[in-house]
Amino acid sequence: MTKRARAMLSQMDRATRSWFLPVIGRDKGRFIARLIDKHRPKRAVEIGSLIGYSAIVIAGNLPPGGRLVSIELNTYMGRITGRNVAAAGLKSRVRVIVGDARRVLPFLGSRFDFALIDAAKEEYLEYLRALEPRLAKGAWVVADNTKIFKSQLKDYLAYVRRSGRYESREQDFDQDAMEVSRFVGA
Ligand SMILES: C[S@@+](CC[C@H](N)C(=O)[O-])C[C@H]1O[C@@H](n2cnc3c(N)ncnc32)[C@H](O)[C@@H]1O
Repeated sequence: MTKRARAMLSQMDRATRSWFLPVIGRDKGRFIARLIDKHRPKRAVEIGSLIGYSAIVIAGNLPPGGRLVSIELNTYMGRITGRNVAAAGLKSRVRVIVGDARRVLPFLGSRFDFALIDAAKEEYLEYLRALEPRLAKGAWVVADNTKIFKSQLKDYLAYVRRSGRYESREQDFDQDAMEVSRFVGA
């Protein structure tokens, strides 16, 4: 990750200490950076951009030529994400799409080998099912907030753990967790 992108994340870390914003934050960000560094995905998608924190983490760690599609429902947040991504020097790597991910995902042309799901908790399974036809075999799908929203995510967790389409495990972060699932095929 470049110095400029790191500086942007530090600035956002400071801002989110004063105003609560539900971004993935440092520890989960480091975990995602390590996962990307290890598996070197090239086509990433995220559902839920907010201010672009996780977009900068993902895009900033992709290997050369890597691209991220970041989908955000809220027009204003989509604009902020675009601005922050540009300030981090990552504009050429990130395409921000404003819209409901459930409607946007079926129209995306790429095949993705990395996905972060971090939007409306009760919709996670719908996002995943819309995304699935676009997932490359071996793709990594990370779902945020699986401890604090465990009951809302029951159907999602049952699906990734028992459908036979994923190898899935929980990554614990004390107060919260992420579900890390590898797509093994339909
Ligand atoms: C928890 S925040 C995302 C935080 C971001 N991933 C980060 O860590 O920097 C959730 C975002 O999902 C967006 N959202 C909610 N429902 C959505 C949907 N159906 N499609 C796309 N975005 C959605 C919200 O507007 C909000 O900005």
